[in-house]
Amino acid sequence: MIRKIAVLTSGGDAPGMNAALRACIRAGLYYGKDMYVVYDGFRGLVEGNIIQVNKDFTQDIINRGGTIIRSARLPEFANPDVSEKAAQQLKDFEIDALIGIGGDGTYKGLELLDKAGIVTIGIPGTIDNDVGSTDETIGFSTALNTICDCVDKLKDTSGSHQRCTLIEVMGRDCGDLAMFAALAEGAEGVICVEHPLKEDALFRKLRKMKAQNKSHAIIIISENLLDIKELAKKIALETGFDTRTEVLGRLQRGGSPDAHDRILAARLSARAIDLLTEKDPTSRVVGIKNNMIVDYPIAEATKMKHVHTRGLRALIDMLQ
Ligand code: F6P
Repeated sequence: MIRKIAVLTSGGDAPGMNAALRACIRAGLYYGKDMYVVYDGFRGLVEGNIIQVNKDFTQDIINRGGTIIRSARLPEFANPDVSEKAAQQLKDFEIDALIGIGGDGTYKGLELLDKAGIVTIGIPGTIDNDVGSTDETIGFSTALNTICDCVDKLKDTSGSHQRCTLIEVMGRDCGDLAMFAALAEGAEGVICVEHPLKEDALFRKLRKMKAQNKSHAIIIISENLLDIKELAKKIALETGFDTRTEVLGRLQRGGSPDAHDRILAARLSARAIDLLTEKDPTSRVVGIKNNMIVDYPIAEATKMKHVHTRGLRALIDMLQ
């Protein structure tokens, strides 16, 4: 039986991580478990930066952005010596299970700890929405709303100057933030892994818009794909549109989680704790599929690929 549970956050912080932390701690205490937090992600775990917490720790954190227990990126964790040291820290504290809130990288770390004899549970928390074992990750909705807020503002100035504005959004290798933002904003174009740049078609469309004296054009582009400044120069040259670029960057990760992310965090965390109250718990991840909370063995989940909705791409093609 699991008696002591620790929670950490890892990878890029995401709005709603604190709400998930709160829900894990409260649900764990409700079931009579001793609850711990690990500061600074897997790095803090290796260093033994672990404390026991009570309900007071969770006060007024449900609406806070970022992660109050901080996060870190630790590529060295893939080295078995490092992950075994982390597992030993948990054993020294007599902690039986670890919940990790993060993305794919976090799940890989949890899988290594599972191999070292620790029961682990993964909760998907990243703005990228790129985790295969869930339709949605905690933080995606808030980041999307932040992007929309920025694009709304950029539209005002873009329209005032009859400009074409290229807006780069995050997502690592996943186009969900770009595609959903394009759909929500009625953007004139989207460029992402799932929707690659077709220069000729884009220039044709922008030339036509220019000829029709349209007020402006908004193109949303995923990070890591192309040099948006170079593309802006080409667009200006080929279409006559005065063109500007904006990189939204890490402001997409900040801010108070929206209600959707807080509730998703509560539902996923409750299942995570439920799994740890079972008689013989095993290492799993939780997720949401078709609005149902689901769970999978962690070794299976780390091999799952995020499936992009065909319908979404068709919708974008139709509406652009
Ligand atoms: O995974 C979240 C994310 O914001 C990605 O969208 C982005 O590529 C990456 O993190 C940036 O990470 P960092 O802040 O560590 O440079």
